[in-house]
Amino acid sequence: MSGENATDEALVAPAAARNGAVILDVLRDVLPRGGQVLEVASGSGEHAVRFAAGLPDLRWQPSDPDRRALGSIAAHARSAGLPNLLTPVELDARAQAWPVTRADAIVCINMIHVAPWTATVGLIAGAGRLLPDRGPLYLYGPFRIGGAHTAASNTQFDEDLRARDPEWGVRDFEAVLAVAAEHGLHLASQIPMPANNLSVVLRKAGA
Ligand SMILES: C[S@@+](CC[C@H](N)C(=O)[O-])C[C@H]1O[C@@H](n2cnc3c(N)ncnc32)[C@H](O)[C@@H]1O
Repeated sequence: MSGENATDEALVAPAAARNGAVILDVLRDVLPRGGQVLEVASGSGEHAVRFAAGLPDLRWQPSDPDRRALGSIAAHARSAGLPNLLTPVELDARAQAWPVTRADAIVCINMIHVAPWTATVGLIAGAGRLLPDRGPLYLYGPFRIGGAHTAASNTQFDEDLRARDPEWGVRDFEAVLAVAAEHGLHLASQIPMPANNLSVVLRKAGA
């Protein structure tokens, strides 16, 4: 994200502009027809606006723990004026209790490698608490599969992330699935995405 320090500045994340359309295509298949979607780690808020506009039958609840991000989401939302885009809430995935108590689906894009592993565990635990039976948790980002990166660019990206913060890094797909299983979620689908990313759909077990 780029921008100054103003509280309510609409930040611009170039990656969100690049990947928004392809992610929306996947979300159309993954998300329920109606109800409320919780987006964890909304960042600039550009995805929230795009997805709320593209999926008008869903209520879109953006969130982030970062105050600048919350200001940016609010600024983008104000400009968009969408009736189904809710006021952003402060939510840290690691918290034991979240400020949102129900969600028919949860979406989290490009967060788990840019946060400590405890954020991944907290995200999945929260999904296990909030989602109804068969409710989806959608993840997007790079993953290591079978203990290896899927592209040289991801190896470099992982090194860059770990140099910025030793607690960050591209996550092992199998480790994410193992935590998911502990919280009653199983892999429903994995979809290759541009730039060596993956869409991962986990679903809460249920009838
Ligand atoms: C790379 S940005 C991605 C933002 C947005 N999803 C996108 O794709 O443009 C990572 C985001 O994760 C958020 N984040 C970091 N740690 C978090 C945590 N523990 N819980 C929830 N969000 C977190 C950051 O504040 C930041 O907005």
